[in-house]
Amino acid sequence: MDLQIKGKKALMAGGSAGMGRATAERLAEAGTELFISARREVRLVQAAEDISEKYGIKVTPIVADSSTEEGRAALFAACPDPDILSITIKPPAPNGDFLKVTPEMWRESIETALIGPTEIMRHYIPVMKDKGWGRIVNIATFSAKNPMIWRLMSGPARSALLNYTASVSREVAPHGVIINNLLPGMFQTEGASEIMGHYADAFGLPHEPEIVRDHFLEHNKIPAGFSGLADDLAPMAALLCSPLARFIVGQNIVIDGGQHNSIF
Ligand SMILES: NC(=O)c1ccc[n+]([C@@H]2O[C@H](COP(=O)([O-])OP(=O)(O)OC[C@H]3O[C@@H](n4cnc5c(N)ncnc54)[C@H](OP(=O)(O)O)[C@@H]3O)[C@@H](O)[C@H]2O)c1
Repeated sequence: MDLQIKGKKALMAGGSAGMGRATAERLAEAGTELFISARREVRLVQAAEDISEKYGIKVTPIVADSSTEEGRAALFAACPDPDILSITIKPPAPNGDFLKVTPEMWRESIETALIGPTEIMRHYIPVMKDKGWGRIVNIATFSAKNPMIWRLMSGPARSALLNYTASVSREVAPHGVIINNLLPGMFQTEGASEIMGHYADAFGLPHEPEIVRDHFLEHNKIPAGFSGLADDLAPMAALLCSPLARFIVGQNIVIDGGQHNSIF
């Protein structure tokens, strides 16, 4: 299927690993001019080189933390006028005992998972409106609509992001700017591996991968029978970044192998 985005400028904020990287690759495959950002430079630059070589397109790496004003300023300066924007972060660490969640932990969660994406959208939406065309896809989390006691630093801030995009997407759709959210469940990514130790601590488990994995699978039933790979999400992200998604507005699409059990 031709996504009809060849030559468009695409910014994947959070594009050096995991689902952001896989989405960047799908956008590269479709022939976009690509910008990818992340905080850690070495992995980011390597990802940009690899994607550029693999797909024969220009890829510009931008070292920028989406959760800070300075980081966002760097993003806006390096990529002033994208047609396509996708935003993600790494999975926040599990919180452990909910009674130990402090205001400082809430602030960090909100800065990273809510203010970062909303500020990036607030900056780029007028640019896209001026062009009369734009696509925005937030890669958030299914815990935004499937509350989990150990995901308090991830779900609540993203529920607010969904609420924000529900309103804003309908405001900007008449201008050709289409916003949707993807809500991934359990995926095997670099980010998921990095928080395994926190998961063990949150549940009082030894730091032994097999014990952590068994505990995780026992408490998280996935009807599909496996946890996802990054490219189980990326094709849907790329589709939502295309003209083909012009009638899909303000939706929250869960990609979780059937784990979240609901009709809507
Ligand atoms: N993996 C799962 O099982 C799972 C489950 C539910 C929801 N999710 C959600 O899915 C999304 C993607 O997760 P993932 O597992 O693909 O993550 P990942 O493998 O850690 O990849 C995240 C990417 O975003 C970058 N990034 C992280 N924080 C950033 C920031 N503040 N500013 C700029 N770039 C940033 C990372 O690079 P740097 O770290 O170098 O910045 C990396 O390129 C997240 O929203 C996560 O909460 C994941």
